[in-house]
Amino acid sequence: MNKHLETQLVKACIDSKKNKTTTLGNREHQVDIAKYCCEIRLKQEMDKIFKKLPFIVLHSSELNESNRYKSVDTNIGSLIATRDTNGEVHVFHNSCRHRGAKIVDGSGCNKLLVCPYHAWSYSLEGELKSVPGQMHCFPELNKADNTLIRVPSIEKHGFIWAIPNVNEGRSLEEVLGEYLGDIAPHLEWMDGPNLKVFKHTQKVWNANWKIFTEGGLETYHFSFAHKDTIARNFQNNIAVIDQLGMHFRVIMPTRAIDKPGLMQQEYLSLREHSHTLFYVMPNAFMLVQENHVEWISLRPIAVDQSEITVTTLIPCNEDLDNEKTHSYWQKNHHITNLTLDEDWKLGVGIQESVTNGHLPFLRYGKNEWALKALNDEIERLLLE
Ligand code: FES
Ligand SMILES: [Fe+2]
Repeated sequence: MNKHLETQLVKACIDSKKNKTTTLGNREHQVDIAKYCCEIRLKQEMDKIFKKLPFIVLHSSELNESNRYKSVDTNIGSLIATRDTNGEVHVFHNSCRHRGAKIVDGSGCNKLLVCPYHAWSYSLEGELKSVPGQMHCFPELNKADNTLIRVPSIEKHGFIWAIPNVNEGRSLEEVLGEYLGDIAPHLEWMDGPNLKVFKHTQKVWNANWKIFTEGGLETYHFSFAHKDTIARNFQNNIAVIDQLGMHFRVIMPTRAIDKPGLMQQEYLSLREHSHTLFYVMPNAFMLVQENHVEWISLRPIAVDQSEITVTTLIPCNEDLDNEKTHSYWQKNHHITNLTLDEDWKLGVGIQESVTNGHLPFLRYGKNEWALKALNDEIERLLLE
């Protein structure tokens, strides 16, 4: 994203406020509640979307040096991400080639991954290196045929991406580029390689993943749902929202756009005048704030249950040994979670309503067009 586009977007927010409006769709919509409580529907979404599209495994800073590894639960099961001696990243299914035990639980730094069950060990490139008692117990085993099962992966925009579905003849770079499309320059602008993880907060909430996702695509609720936390910093029901391929960009202007004379300025920084949300289909939100990014990741556990991880990404040169700096970011992480918990709790209430089945449908206003567009996009992916 260049400075011209930043300025354009901030000015569009100022215009919106002047005209007392927000980005609107053509009409209102009614939504079938079955898609939030149908098991078959979730299975289709898992198969056609979550197990097919590229997704973020880790932020690069989570493997910040050679010989580091970390396990992570994802939509295609538990994975191990490693950074080998040469700095190359690899992603494998976290399943031992002996009897399938999980090899890694958490993170560490070592040249070998050792299965906790019978101590088969693997290199960080996935090769099976040693098998206790191999001569007597597994005389027929060929180690070369029993490497860890690899998931194609690529490091880009400061994240490690898994690409579960690669057609022959296509490079990972191409597949990721095509999937990200017009959101890619925005991720570039976010400057992920110069960030590091401060802290993750992870919790399971009882609602369908789409209910939580929809909540991120409108600001209509800010003044009410967040009245005790962030509402006073934002404009009421004003947002500039665009769909970028299957992804979305949501500009949520802060009170900073009230400063007089801004329309005459040549450059207006997006970070200084708004919080900018990038929704990367299907399960990543990047909330870009003035000096950091909140990365929110969703994982469907059941039709009415989702695991949500909120990760605060901060500039990589922040000295966290400095008590003041640490407590600044701690406070930030805390406020983010306090605010987002307000959203998640409302989502749980919506799930109860749709599960109880007494509502004929849910309703989206013209200002909630992006929620409809998201659901249309999901329908399109299900048909592919
Ligand atoms: S299951 Fe891993 S060594 Fe046996
Ligand atoms: Fe919210």
